[in-house]
Amino acid sequence: MSPRRNFRPLLASLLGLALIGSAGAFSAAQAQTQPLAPDTMAARVQGCTACHGVHGEGTDNDYFPRLAGKPADYLYNQLQNFREGRRKYPPMNYLVTYLSDDYLHQIATYFSQQRPPYPTPAKSNVSPSTLARGQQIVLNGDASKQIPACAACHGKTLTGMQPAIPGLVGLHSDYISAQVGAWRSGTRHAIAPDCMQQIASRLTDDDVTAVAAWLSTQTAPANPVPAPAGSLKTPLKCGSEPQ
Ligand code: HEC
Ligand code: HEC
Repeated sequence: MSPRRNFRPLLASLLGLALIGSAGAFSAAQAQTQPLAPDTMAARVQGCTACHGVHGEGTDNDYFPRLAGKPADYLYNQLQNFREGRRKYPPMNYLVTYLSDDYLHQIATYFSQQRPPYPTPAKSNVSPSTLARGQQIVLNGDASKQIPACAACHGKTLTGMQPAIPGLVGLHSDYISAQVGAWRSGTRHAIAPDCMQQIASRLTDDDVTAVAAWLSTQTAPANPVPAPAGSLKTPLKCGSEPQ
């Protein structure tokens, strides 16, 4: 793994902590002059929006993912994963440490129902042959390396499948490579059997660059909702998506 890949998330997390700090100071100051905001979900998730956007649309930061429209159980599984340490990003681990399952479920449902517009797809800076390789893996897989098509589980329009497979449109290429890299290096885990861990370990560095670059250039479909549960037969068993 290149030093750049190791350094950038650290920088992002330091930036994030600074944001939380200033957001806290701001609301303390504000609380003295303004009546408390009503206890709506929008008010409760204010601490999340600096990094994930007001409606979970994500931000310009390459490592802060879109949450909006991903299936509720997927988001819920991730919040639990951060709470139990199956995913590691200190600001996220810290924020959910003391939140109950019920509360995490409410947050997950809230963001799954948000429908903010998608960002303009990225203009890629990789070569046309790299993009073509990425498209090939995402849509058709690579049988010679037992890599199934990403679209077989994430859907033809890449908007995911209910109840717990996320969409892959609207994500930055650095975020996608960091997540696949985290599965390969063992810092991200999903409920066993962890199909993404198996798939990630069959991809080379070049494959990861290619799929991440191609995915980040894709436009979301007009109706960007996850496919109905069970509508795709997953080529591997995934613990988070029992069939
Ligand atoms: C300091 C910035 C920051 C704050 C504040 C923050 N997040 Fe995150 N969140 C991140 C980053 C960065 C990731 C990706 C971490 C990784 O590499 O796994 C993430 C990941 C997630 C994921 C998994 C997304 C996915 O597609 O897998 C969920 C769900 C999530 N955050 C929800 C929340 C909620 C709910 C809050 C508020 C309680 C919150 N976040 C606050 C930065 C933040
Ligand atoms: C056998 C089904 C399956 C296939 C094939 C598959 N995925 Fe996944 N993917 C999943 C599941 C299930 C999750 C959710 C795992 C979890 O709960 O953390 C996931 C999650 C992800 C995430 C995390 C998204 C986020 O917001 O953090 C990325 C990135 C991803 N997959 C990329 C890929 C790529 C790239 C391919 C093709 C090379 C691929 N997947 C093929 C089932 C699959």
